Amino acid sequence: MNVWMGPGLLPPAGLRAELAGCQGLVCLLTDRVDRALLDAVPGLEFVSSMSVGVDHIDVQALSERGIPLGNTPGVLVDTTADTAFALLLAAARRVPEADRFVRDGNWTAANAWAPGFFTGKDVSGATLGIVGLGQIGQAMARRAAGFGMQVLAWNRAPRQVAGIEMVTLEELLLRSDFVSVHVALAPATRNLLDAGKIALMKPGAVLVNTARGGIVDELALADALASGRLAAAGIDVFEREPVPADNPLLALPNVVVTPHIGSATTLTRARMADMAAVNAIAALQGQAMPCCVNPEVYR
Ligand code: GLV
Repeated sequence: MNVWMGPGLLPPAGLRAELAGCQGLVCLLTDRVDRALLDAVPGLEFVSSMSVGVDHIDVQALSERGIPLGNTPGVLVDTTADTAFALLLAAARRVPEADRFVRDGNWTAANAWAPGFFTGKDVSGATLGIVGLGQIGQAMARRAAGFGMQVLAWNRAPRQVAGIEMVTLEELLLRSDFVSVHVALAPATRNLLDAGKIALMKPGAVLVNTARGGIVDELALADALASGRLAAAGIDVFEREPVPADNPLLALPNVVVTPHIGSATTLTRARMADMAAVNAIAALQGQAMPCCVNPEVYR
């Protein structure tokens, strides 16, 4: 067994070298599993990813080779919805900006409490639009209900959930004060919120993305935030990760950023690691993985 202990990410050539002669791979969402890797490791029998998203993996290429892919859905639902709601509140009430203001020594008698001082946006009573009403989207809706929000949602497949009004994506963008993204990144959702869709968003709205970079057009979003048409954004995921320092979103005071930590609690990460291990052990024992993304390989 080869275990990569870092430091840092394992580059593609390193992953190929580590995998030589291995039957299976237990990987993270930072490891790219593409056709080139599969060609270089012809003996690979399974892949188990410690993630729910599998956009770092060429699933079709695995399926063509009959290689099962395991993932870790379910256990990170509430943790990720907590992160999304934390970003929503932080962006609405300008928490990181206020924190920097105080630490930088700007809170002085000349620059202190006043009626318009650090005013933000009300969350209670506002309308939240959920883009993608899977398990995490539904968990976000439960949190929003606790804050007295009206909840709209759009989902690619028809879905009915009590207390949530299903609408088209366009209507959701037009009516929502807050929009939170919860779809998986796939060819059909790449650039789903492009410049045209962002232009439909309500003036003064807030966008939260804890799903994946690549779903939202970052340059169009940065333009809308810089011009003041959108009030703020809370962004945990980026088109390129780690996010390059020159990403325009990083230069904007009304953007709250975190480094892809949606599922980052100690307990949730332990549960994800357990699921990834259980999937790998099943594959090593010649059994079907309990959580398999491409179960057709078993038929
Ligand atoms: C996190 O982003 C995951 O896909 O598990």
